[in-house]
Amino acid sequence: MILPKPSRFERHDGAFLLSSRTTLSADDASAAAASAVRRAFGPATGSAFDAPESGAAAGISLSVDSERLGPEAYTLTVTPERIEIVGGDPAGVFYGVQSLRQVVPAEALSASTAGDWEVPAVSVRDQPKFGWRGTMLDVGRHFMPKEFVLKLLDLLALHKLNVFHFHLTEDQGWRLAIEKYPRLTEVGAWRPETLIGHANRPASEHTFDGTPHGGFYTQDDIREIVAYAAERFITVVPEIDMPGHMLAAITAYPELGNGIKPPKVGTVWGISDEVLNVEDSTLDFCRDVLAEVLALFPSPFVHCGGDECPKVEWKASESAQARIRELGLADEDALQAWFTGQMAKYLAENGRRFVGWDEVLEGGGPANLPSDVVVMSWRSEEGGIEAARGGLDVVMAPCQYVYFDYYQSDNHDTEPLAIGGHVPLSKVYGYRPIPGELEAEAARHVLGAQAQLWTEYVPNQEHAEYMLFPRLCAFAEAVWRDDANGIESYDAFLERLRPHLARLDALGVNYRKLDD
Ligand code: ACM
Repeated sequence: MILPKPSRFERHDGAFLLSSRTTLSADDASAAAASAVRRAFGPATGSAFDAPESGAAAGISLSVDSERLGPEAYTLTVTPERIEIVGGDPAGVFYGVQSLRQVVPAEALSASTAGDWEVPAVSVRDQPKFGWRGTMLDVGRHFMPKEFVLKLLDLLALHKLNVFHFHLTEDQGWRLAIEKYPRLTEVGAWRPETLIGHANRPASEHTFDGTPHGGFYTQDDIREIVAYAAERFITVVPEIDMPGHMLAAITAYPELGNGIKPPKVGTVWGISDEVLNVEDSTLDFCRDVLAEVLALFPSPFVHCGGDECPKVEWKASESAQARIRELGLADEDALQAWFTGQMAKYLAENGRRFVGWDEVLEGGGPANLPSDVVVMSWRSEEGGIEAARGGLDVVMAPCQYVYFDYYQSDNHDTEPLAIGGHVPLSKVYGYRPIPGELEAEAARHVLGAQAQLWTEYVPNQEHAEYMLFPRLCAFAEAVWRDDANGIESYDAFLERLRPHLARLDALGVNYRKLDD
């Protein structure tokens, strides 16, 4: 009944009655989990979940015991008399509450009138396999309102996912207010129109919708999102994609570019040749932006992109060539590796770790990068394997398994337009973040894995939910489960998923229906 499937689960006779009279006790370390209980069950029971009268036992008790349980681990014990959740740390207690939400009937998740709910007696012992259980949302191609981001954070928490990678900047839109550079959002957050249909046709056949699109998050919005995530034990990893995917910023501040084409915020999807130049002033700009990012996002990890940076402009640019000569570099790939090193150094000086897409390995490989750099392997598992063998930490995000902008069926006639690919639910469920060929020593560098939702062809929240669910339910299994506890068949997973979909219904999620 709980998804992702717990390490150990037993059903017993009897049930606890959750009602307006249910009391709650929580130690100091479990305060966030206590708030989660009130949010989850307050409206459905009418209970304020006050402490019991002195001497009486609480209906629900929450506590941390770090001697008995590891990080993020928990036990959940429901008897007819009481519900007890013990976590190895505050996150563990919170995950126990998320499991409790999935033991009560699904209607309790959305009930707004108070009632009594039978909670079947169970004992659960559980802990995740991976520490990085991520989901990336691209808000550059299509801006997504703050309310949707908050809803998504709630859904990540329900599935015990703990990293929200916020892809905030793109060729087609810059979404984060930066005080020092107001034109990034005044100019860069808006495009005059958007391509209709797929980009894989000749430019002469492209037609546009004539409708301006844009939007951005204020710094107050970001503080609200980060705090909301923190209450749910989710780290928000911001991404400022550089030195490619920067056309919106270059449109706002043309001096950041190579001066080869007049810049214009992107209206078509694809890889832009227009990239940042490598002047000192541009590196200062990047550091200034990151300084504001660091003040907003407490995450130990900051993503600086690094993907899809064509080298045509640097090849043609006299100042980029002068930089290559001055640094004694072999070529333009080495120039990007140097750029990566500069940003990684800045982040390290500020106590943070640089995360980059696997292209950061080009121009010298793992040995040429600072040892605290984290590589996000997206083009395949290969970059992750190379990085892990080279001693770098890795997050696996291979497009073949965990790109949720890809089609969910091979019958494209029955699916909304998508970028391409084929990532059905079964493929996500079968995904293993540690590639079979990776030696145990190198496998220790795999922090976990991440699902990606790029939004070129995902214009709104309903469509985003359709692409994310139920694939994200299967992904949660892939990063939580430990094969040492037994390997489940896909059909058995589907049997567990069906009742879980009732929860998504209760929460108003526009998930894709299962194939018959
Ligand atoms: C990517 O999909 N360009 C990381």
